[in-house]
Amino acid sequence: MFSKKMEDAFNAQINAEFYSEYLYLAMKAYFEELHLTGIANWFGVQVQEEHAHGLGMYDYVHERGGKVTLGEIAKPEIKGKDTVAIFEQVLEHEQLVTSKINALVDVAEAEHDRAALSFLDWYIKEQVEEESNVRQLIATLKLIGEDKKALLMLDRELAARTYTAPVIG
Ligand code: FEO
Repeated sequence: MFSKKMEDAFNAQINAEFYSEYLYLAMKAYFEELHLTGIANWFGVQVQEEHAHGLGMYDYVHERGGKVTLGEIAKPEIKGKDTVAIFEQVLEHEQLVTSKINALVDVAEAEHDRAALSFLDWYIKEQVEEESNVRQLIATLKLIGEDKKALLMLDRELAARTYTAPVIG
């Protein structure tokens, strides 16, 4: 039985995932405009991943016989003033998403919804990976500092990142 509380909590998380997609799309544009196309590509892959995260939950709500209700997606705001600060904003955002997934797990526990708990395991692991990847990039960017040549080398490296559709759940 998929409770109304569970359905509402999933719908809120669907919105958070699509907001993430929108935020990373804004960041992709920012780096494209700076002609840092490799970093822009990294964000392009993030966009696709967030889309998959949102759709994964959307499909799951239907699989459980629930109703998908889509809300408004807030305007994305880039707060960081340079590359490191923008990636720090990404890490902060992912930490927020992690806390939202944890809150969703809390609802599933309170509702004794074992199926939802099992489904959400994938998202918990994904958040660990997402935070770790961003932390690594921040460390690299801090090492690079003002070295433009090193930044261009990183940009070239990130241009090679490709999207692989995840198998969710
Ligand atoms: Fe879907 Fe980056 O969390």
